[in-house]
Amino acid sequence: MATLAAPVASPEIARAVIDPKSYAAWDPLLDLFDRIRSETPVLRIEAGEGGFDPFWLLTRYDDVMQVSKDNASFLNHPRPVVLSSREGIEFARAATGSDMLVDSLVTFDAPIHPKYRKLTQDWFMPRNLRTIEDAIRALARRTVDRLVEAGADGAPVDFVKQVSAPYPLHVVMQILGVPESDERRMLMLTQQLFGGQDPDLSGAGMAQLTPEMVLQIVAGAVKDFEDYFARLAAERRAQPTDDVASVIANAIVDGEPLNDRDMAGYYIILAAAGHDTTSASTAGAMLALARDPDQFAKVRADRSLLPGIVEEAIRWTTPVQHFMRTAARDVEIGGQSIVAGDWIMLNYVAANHDPAVFDNPRRFDAARSPNRHLAFGAGAHQCLGLHLARLEMRILFEALLDRIDAVEVAGEARRADSSFVGGLKTLPLRIVAA
Ligand code: HEM
Repeated sequence: MATLAAPVASPEIARAVIDPKSYAAWDPLLDLFDRIRSETPVLRIEAGEGGFDPFWLLTRYDDVMQVSKDNASFLNHPRPVVLSSREGIEFARAATGSDMLVDSLVTFDAPIHPKYRKLTQDWFMPRNLRTIEDAIRALARRTVDRLVEAGADGAPVDFVKQVSAPYPLHVVMQILGVPESDERRMLMLTQQLFGGQDPDLSGAGMAQLTPEMVLQIVAGAVKDFEDYFARLAAERRAQPTDDVASVIANAIVDGEPLNDRDMAGYYIILAAAGHDTTSASTAGAMLALARDPDQFAKVRADRSLLPGIVEEAIRWTTPVQHFMRTAARDVEIGGQSIVAGDWIMLNYVAANHDPAVFDNPRRFDAARSPNRHLAFGAGAHQCLGLHLARLEMRILFEALLDRIDAVEVAGEARRADSSFVGGLKTLPLRIVAA
């Protein structure tokens, strides 16, 4: 079959796709992806002057699905799995000797990836998660109690600050066996490590520091994590518990226990992947309910609607906005020739708003069925924590619906400047307690 000449994005479009600020303005972002999808669904982005290597942007659901499922032709290595500037890549190399700051499940390919993934796969299945449901429910109730207290007498409350940010962080720290007294330190370390593109969210005001200072902080954060988790793992080897930290500490791969670096990578990916993501979909679900009092009343009366609301919130928000792949061979995507070594962006936001698959995609439709969204990815790297994320959200909303009679938006809900994990960073609400 004849392939198409490489369609290269205009500098203006290339900038818009790369700029973290574009991701703070949701409707214009969806307009941009709609336009790209309908004109050039496989589009080459060349933003050399912005310091980025060229890459292919995929905006169609079917193309993102095809690449996600073909883990032999599209690899999570050697190019970074998150869009990074050349400067960022150099920086990671200088700090850690690798193109990504941390090597972990998301940067491994077969044959290593399945061996590491298998270690915790069962732990994250619904059967095992049932054993931690009560603990999660207790966290959810405590979080909602605090929200109700803060919102007493109609005072506006920030749902992100009060609920959707701290709650998934507590859950993930609990499964990692990190005591509450160390949570702040862990949060700071993840923020230092992953920097964050939004100045309001990145730890320690990193934007004001020189590159050398940032390098030192990041290298220090990696070392701190390694030391912290090496100690935790030693405890779990001496006295295993039911948590996932014990599974990793006692894991054997190819006849050997994991070394400190690999173990820390595993803990870090769980810590980092598990909180901002679930926070964004939780805040999105609340925004949808706060904007639609009928829907809120309906689900209060009939909790069987909750799983549909949770699933639609995950599609509608698509917290992980992209991952990258490296082509392992010359291959065709949507009629476009891709050459071995090319870098490819799987744009989950665009895929989850593809009108060929989702009717009226911008509408929050709690009854959407089927709802085969790509917010958790697909194929060998599909989100390991997807059952946990759904469970956390369902339990939290059960607790919220038990305690809250009505809710309304009380100010501007603002999104983060971030092209990777995005979503709301503020959601002011007024609540009426039950
Ligand atoms: C709504 C919340 C979440 C969303 C939207 C989300 C999304 C994603 C996506 C898109 C991927 C990459 C999939 C791919 O490459 O095909 C991923 C991978 C991953 N997620 Fe999640 N995630 C969420 C919550 C969680 C939670 C709660 C955890 C665990 C605590 C978690 C752990 C992971 C891990 C370990 C991976 C890497 C899996 C691998 O490479 O084999 N995620 N997630």
